[in-house]
Amino acid sequence: MSDIKLLAGNSNRALAESIAAYLGLPLTKCQVRRFADMEVFVEIQENVRGLDTFIIQSTSYPANDHLMELLIMTDALRRASARRITAVVPYFGYARQDRKPAPRAPISAKLVANLITRAGVDRVLTVDLHAGQIQGFFDIPTDNLFGAPVMVRDIKERLDLNNVMVVSPDVGGVVRARALAKRIDAPLAIVDKRRERAGESEVMNIIGDVEGKSCILVDDIVDSGGTLCNAAEALLAKGAKEVRAYITHGVLSGGAVARISSSKLKELVVTDSIQPTEAVRVASNIRVVSIAPLMGEAIGRTAKEESVSSLFD
Ligand code: R5P
Repeated sequence: MSDIKLLAGNSNRALAESIAAYLGLPLTKCQVRRFADMEVFVEIQENVRGLDTFIIQSTSYPANDHLMELLIMTDALRRASARRITAVVPYFGYARQDRKPAPRAPISAKLVANLITRAGVDRVLTVDLHAGQIQGFFDIPTDNLFGAPVMVRDIKERLDLNNVMVVSPDVGGVVRARALAKRIDAPLAIVDKRRERAGESEVMNIIGDVEGKSCILVDDIVDSGGTLCNAAEALLAKGAKEVRAYITHGVLSGGAVARISSSKLKELVVTDSIQPTEAVRVASNIRVVSIAPLMGEAIGRTAKEESVSSLFD
């Protein structure tokens, strides 16, 4: 692996360091800083000519700055004659804008994919894309890793699987939740949010019998925490014994941490695809599990031209 170079933007330095430790490699010396007017300036301080390079950068908050860092780092590597550039984007921001929900709306996820590709990235490595089809927005090889094995290991270590029910917090997340339920051989329930008539508030119907069950809500993103906290309320109202959540990307904007801390959720588990804030780290019912070994393994296999999909067999 001597011809691999790992570079980190500013979005998630801690994860990049853990990935580097997993692979037993140092992070390449590289400055990613701002001019006085906030322009991004990048300086790669080691030779990368002819090397297999990996930029570790989630396009998380502040999404535009972190995206720009990724694009400029890519440009720097390309002009420095790197042999291959892989964008390792554990959390791919803008993914929720993946279709036109209304006339004259943009498809920003496609635009961002175009920007990354045009900047000179050769391949992309990401985790739990909001929708699998976003893989096709990139006209370059894109590996969409699953966070599920990390979640499953944690669930098996901590919970009595005999009484567990996996729950999708909305109809759109059923495929993801069902995949996790299958891995732990648990039944599946679905929260079906419906607004019967315009102007009336949403009704939460639970499909499945959750009475007395330890429920695990599974989703790709927790942002405001609204989806999660409302689903937890609805499950408890239907007699669930307790409700936990396993969610890959802890976006946790605005007052989300406070909302979750004061909710009836027993625990929210997120990965470190997005660098946890201090508020997340000290929250009593939020825990972070690391995807560094998963990412490190996938990077190592990519470098050695080995199968990445077999990580999930
Ligand atoms: C939506 O389709 C996503 O899978 C999440 O359910 C959503 O982004 C969560 O957002 P919030 O936490 O703001 O309810």
